[in-house]
Amino acid sequence: TRILSVTSECVPLVKTGGLADVAGALPGALKPLGYDMRTLLPGYRSVMKALKKTRTVLDEDDLFGGPVRVLEAKVAGLSLYVLEAAHLFDRDGSPYLDAQGSDFPDNPERFAALSWIAMRIARDGAKGWAPDVVHAHDWQGGFAPYYMKKNGVDVPSVLTIHNIAFHGLAPADRLAGLRLDPADFVAEGFEYWGQIGALKAGLQFATALTTVSPTYARELTTPEFGMGLDGVLRARSGDLTGILNGIDLEIWDPRTDPEIVNYKTPRGKGRAKARLRKEFGLPDSDGPLVIVVSRLSHQKGLDLLLEALPAFIDRGGQLALLGSGDKALEGAFVKAAEQANVAVRIGYDEALSHRMMAGADAILVPSRFEPCGLTQLYGLRYGTVPVVAATGGLVDTVIPASPMAMRSGVATGLQVSPLTSHALATTLGHLVDLYHDVDAWAMLQSNAMRQSVGWEASAAEYASLYDRLTAANK
Ligand code: ADP
Ligand code: GLC
Repeated sequence: TRILSVTSECVPLVKTGGLADVAGALPGALKPLGYDMRTLLPGYRSVMKALKKTRTVLDEDDLFGGPVRVLEAKVAGLSLYVLEAAHLFDRDGSPYLDAQGSDFPDNPERFAALSWIAMRIARDGAKGWAPDVVHAHDWQGGFAPYYMKKNGVDVPSVLTIHNIAFHGLAPADRLAGLRLDPADFVAEGFEYWGQIGALKAGLQFATALTTVSPTYARELTTPEFGMGLDGVLRARSGDLTGILNGIDLEIWDPRTDPEIVNYKTPRGKGRAKARLRKEFGLPDSDGPLVIVVSRLSHQKGLDLLLEALPAFIDRGGQLALLGSGDKALEGAFVKAAEQANVAVRIGYDEALSHRMMAGADAILVPSRFEPCGLTQLYGLRYGTVPVVAATGGLVDTVIPASPMAMRSGVATGLQVSPLTSHALATTLGHLVDLYHDVDAWAMLQSNAMRQSVGWEASAAEYASLYDRLTAANK
């Protein structure tokens, strides 16, 4: 079975968040099951630079204002189709933002172009290869199912929601320019409160919908989490499933990780912890060292940590945070780091995130919503006890240390609920108590390290979804 994955990010080429990890790992996880997944990716400047041998498999003279070519290439074991379009992707900045941090004004066209080319590959093939299923991710791939339907492409499509907060909206006057049919600019189509919604198009026109955890799949159908699209998702709830993300067990392996002093059991974490304290300029301490590795945005709930922090530090805790994003939050954490036992690095640093995962006692993820979340999974793998909010994929991946879960010896982490700064402070207090209970802590850590956090089970779920879709299409 051949699957075309349509994504705006993919590890190791371009990443702003977990979508890149997932898009980068899925092809390798599906391969042993006999599925040939290839990845369609925008030809950002950095991506074009990484390509070596290429072959042109499709072209178009004028796609939203300039000529484009699709280049077939192999990078790090991935089979890629790269959309080369200088007028859309050859520029400074991140995938979505200019150097000043504003959205590129032509983002609707940039990712509509990606979606259009997905349709072209499905319809016309890429010199001998054509997909049995098109699997698009988030709003950036949202128009792919729509363009397919409108152009008579009889190939089933999947849209995966990684984050419903981003709708990919465009003003109504861009309709014709985006090759959209005005007849579909209605509530049953892709119209969203008077604007064009790329994510909504995907939700309405894809054959099947998935998101990245079962709990988030249920939450999405509620007004609290659906962010204005819950009605659409309720209407399509029969087509929506939650398939949990995994992590790459080779990249995230405490026994072989080149960034750290390797260890097989939690007892081996000692040296990594000493190094981490040193790297962050934190003093020796008998209390737990908690880390955060995160985008700094409202979603992640870290403003609550600022309020809960003093009580935790008073009880002997330490915090090391790595993150970037919201300028006000960055500033507030830099300020918080003026107190003893708190250290903060503003920035994005993949290697440091590995050293933190290895050296810490616990990792904190107090998100307001979290479709899946990956850092709590890294934490489990490294024996770094996750402390998580009771939402989305965090619920599906961490077994909280309730009295009964402790008594029966199955707990892997701690849960903050309800999500308030007060409850967070209480939970961090509980963490300090558990940390000083040597047996309880050893149990949590070894349970954590024994969880299966790889892709095996979830790859099989995607495989059976593709099977159902192709069987129904015969
Ligand atoms: P989201 O996609 O919402 O940001 P995830 O937990 O799914 O959340 O994925 C975030 C990914 O980005 C993880 O791989 C995490 O380690 C990484 N990450 C986030 N912030 C940083 C940072 N400042 N430095 C290094 N890695 C980071
Ligand atoms: C999104 C979500 C995150 C999820 C990631 C990968 O960025 O915020 O929870 O893990 O996508 O699916």
